[in-house]
Formats: sequence, C-alpha cells, structure tokens
Amino acid sequence: MADNSNDIPIEAWNTVLFDKFVRFRRVLTAGLEEHGDVALRHSAYLAGERVLDVGCGFGDTTLTIANMLGPQGQAVGVDCAANFIASATREAAEAGAANASFFVADVQSENLRGPYDHAFARFGTMFFNMPGAALRNIARALKPGGDLTMVVWRKREDNPWIHDAEQVVREMVPVVAHEDTDQVHCGPGPFSMAGPDMVSDMMRAGGFQGISFERYDCEICIGEDMDEAVAFAMALGPAGEIIRLAGAEGERLRPQVSEALRALFATRRRGDSVWAGSSSWIVRARVQG
Ligand SMILES: C[S@@+](CC[C@H](N)C(=O)[O-])C[C@H]1O[C@@H](n2cnc3c(N)ncnc32)[C@H](O)[C@@H]1O
Repeated sequence: MADNSNDIPIEAWNTVLFDKFVRFRRVLTAGLEEHGDVALRHSAYLAGERVLDVGCGFGDTTLTIANMLGPQGQAVGVDCAANFIASATREAAEAGAANASFFVADVQSENLRGPYDHAFARFGTMFFNMPGAALRNIARALKPGGDLTMVVWRKREDNPWIHDAEQVVREMVPVVAHEDTDQVHCGPGPFSMAGPDMVSDMMRAGGFQGISFERYDCEICIGEDMDEAVAFAMALGPAGEIIRLAGAEGERLRPQVSEALRALFATRRRGDSVWAGSSSWIVRARVQG
C-alpha cells in the first residue's frame, strides 16, 4: 500500500537537506528572494493582521511579513523540520521581531493554529505527498475570505538554474527511484506544482476560489565563482538528489560530473559568477467570504 505520510521527506528536510540549505543558504535565499519579494510586494497585508508562512524554512519571509504587519500583527512560520524552526526562532529573537513566531508541524495533516487573514508560501508547498490534503488544511486555517499566495516553480525547462545540471547528471549517473532506496528524499520535488491545470483543480477541491497564476522570470546567481556553482549543483536540486541517491556509484562519478558541470557553466559566466534563468508561478486564491 502507498505510504502517503510525509515521514521520509520530513526526516530528509530535518537532516541532509537542512545541512545542505545551511551550507548554501546565501545562494538559495538570494535566488529565491526575488520571486518571494515580487509576490509580497503585491500582497495587501495590513497592520494588525495574522499571516501564516507555510514551509517557512529559515524564516526570512516570515520576518519580512512581520515587518509589514507592525507590532499588533502576527507573522507565524510553520515548517515540518524542527531544525529550520529552531534556527528561525533564534534569528527572529536576535532581530527583536516580537511579532514573529514559529512552530513545527506537517502542513498536510496537523493543526495549523488558525484562523489567519492570509497564508503565504515561498516554495514551501511543493513537497507534500498529498498536496490536496495540505491545501485543504491551509484553506481550513484561513478566516472566511482569507487568501493564499504561494510561489512555486514553473516547468523545469524554464528553470535552467537547476534543470541544466539535472540533465547533465541524468546522462552520467544511474537514477535510483525513491521506492528503490532506503535513503531519505525530499518528496515529490520542486516541479510538482508546475502545472496550472492540476494545481488549480486541487485548489478548487480544497476550498479555494478566484485562483490566478502570474508568471515571474529572473536570472539567479548559482555561484559567486565556478567552484561554488559546481558544488551547489552537485549538492542540491534534482542533480544533487540523483548523485546522493546513487550512493557509492554517485560518489565514484563525482570527478567526471564535476568536469561536465564546469563545461556547462563556462557558457553561463558573468565575470567570476555563474547565472542561469528561473521561472515561477505566483499563485493567488481565496476561500469563500
Ligand atoms: C524549498 S524550502 C523553502 C523554504 C522557505 N520558504 C524559503 O523560501 O527559504 C521548502 C520548505 O518546506 C518545508 N516542508 C516540506 N514539507 C513540509 C510539510 N509537509 N509540512 C511543513 N513544511 C514542509 C521544508 O522543511 C522546507 O523548509
């Protein structure tokens, strides 16, 4: 029988993926920031409101939202990985953000401590084994008329910042399916919400209406220099996951993969740094008022 729980992805996010996010935090947050900022710039979050930040990670967007809401408002970050929540809680305290708080929960199945005026997610909704259940749970946590803004990656072909490396690695490293390994993995993956038809159907079934998709494209710096770009590609995204899940064979092939990625990235240099395109959907929807 299929295992629809998130136990395996949750362990992955709390261990191997958390460690890699810490290591490449600067590349990741700079890369994701522009997409999230555009989504937040057009979100009418008012002073005194309560906003849930879904899959908040290190809590960068939670702190941005907390600033928008003023001292009477509340920005609440939720993540399934206790390590991310510990880091976000510590950094919010260091920043003196008394109106930001965080808790650990699986958004697919646990109480989200609503009601909220709005929910927001910057790339925090693509990793659920049962996305329909998670969207329904988010809808239930909103006040009548409340809205969700979520940023998700569009199709992989328009995201060369991680897909180009994936294509190179797929040709060189044997791909081990999630069901054929004992190793933890990130769940459905970054492109699981790329299709507007499927996503809007799930949102409607979950109780959302007025659903819109706005495309946003920008270039992402994937490394300040060639070494960082290659290390990032071999650690994270679909390419990094293929190498990791291939185990000893992935390790053995590292030198050849590294050389192939250097050749690929040589075409994407701007001075020392390496850049590639990215593309997201900013999805907006609300529950009945
Ligand atoms: C790509 S990261 C994005 C983090 C953050 N929103 C950002 O933009 O920096 C995805 C986040 O979703 C969280 N996540 C994955 N599955 C989850 C679940 N079932 N419930 C809650 N959070 C989840 C992960 O732990 C991770 O922090």
